[in-house]
Amino acid sequence: MAVLNKKSLKVAKRACLFDLAGKGIGLAGYLVVFLLFVKALLTGDITAGTFAAIFTAIVKMQEMVGEMIHLVGDIGKNSGSINNLLDFIDMPETDGETKVNDFCEKIELKNVSFTYPGAKEESLTDVNLTINKGETIAIVGHNGAGKSTLVRLITGIYQPTGGSVTIDGIPTKDIKSSSLYGLMSGVFQKFQKYQMTLRENVMISNLEAEREDGTLLETLKKADVDIESQSYPDGLETMLSREFDGVDLSGGQWQRVSIARGINRDSKVIVLDEPTAAIDPIEETKIYKKFKEISDERTTVLVTHRLGSARIADRIVVMENGRAAEIGTHDELMNKKGTYYVLFMSQARWYEKQNA
Ligand SMILES: Nc1ncnc2c1ncn2[C@@H]1O[C@H](COP(=O)(O)OP(=O)(O)O)[C@@H](O)[C@H]1O
Ligand SMILES: [Mg+2]
Repeated sequence: MAVLNKKSLKVAKRACLFDLAGKGIGLAGYLVVFLLFVKALLTGDITAGTFAAIFTAIVKMQEMVGEMIHLVGDIGKNSGSINNLLDFIDMPETDGETKVNDFCEKIELKNVSFTYPGAKEESLTDVNLTINKGETIAIVGHNGAGKSTLVRLITGIYQPTGGSVTIDGIPTKDIKSSSLYGLMSGVFQKFQKYQMTLRENVMISNLEAEREDGTLLETLKKADVDIESQSYPDGLETMLSREFDGVDLSGGQWQRVSIARGINRDSKVIVLDEPTAAIDPIEETKIYKKFKEISDERTTVLVTHRLGSARIADRIVVMENGRAAEIGTHDELMNKKGTYYVLFMSQARWYEKQNA
């Protein structure tokens, strides 16, 4: 039974990693996991654990198929995106052999371009960017400018269709994906709500770590989850699901929980891709500030279309039509009076009450 539990936890962790890696890719991920287990089964490695793993994968796939059926209901509107999703499933798996146990110095993007499968136009064009260890980088720009695509390339979830992305000189395509995902931690806009306790919702991102309650409470505090509030009547053991006699959280509260989940992973690089979209601009700035504080030795990539939050970064990358139009510090970009300056001035009113 212990073995089975351990295996199920492993699967849960794996499922979680994929979840963090983005929902679209998630479906492809589960398929891969499923196929891996089938392979293990065929090679005679049939254990109770394997069995539990397959079962979990099937359940997950059913859930996702259910979601896709919802999408199909909207087929007129969404047929484009469904096709794209299917194209991704067909993409060859690029699981390299090299293991990287530590991220030492830098992530380097050289002349990177990216075209989504089946798309006519590039979503990224000729991006050059070096991210040094411990740096906080903000990626800003309008909707559709290529921010999310860029972070997916930085984290190695996607491979460039032109140019190269390397971590300490090793192309991400050559890095074993398990080793890559061990380095990276992501909190995305479409975060997962697990029908589990608050403790489990945070722990699931790093089940191997033994967390003292004190450490866990600290993590929650960093993510601004107020465990003293009435929202969490049973503290860490509060069940976050109405169906299981627990509580309902607001969108903003769930976002904070998902950020705590991101912090709980001991990753070297942490990416926040607008998980704060439902929170107002000033709150977002507060959360991102806190993030910068706690992520001192970690490399942090913050994606936001709100420039008040970008200001706290060491360097800012302004994306425009798939290109890195401007890169520099807040002051440098303001002095330049280019795209960043215009965007910043147009958003200034969002932050007025901050100084009031
Ligand atoms: N799965 C996809 N398939 C095809 N095109 C996509 C996909 N995701 C994003 N795009 C396109 O790539 C461009 C950049 O999108 P994205 O990186 O999501 O921008 P942002 O995060 O800045 O809003 C957009 O033109 C968008 O339509
Ligand atoms: Mg985006």
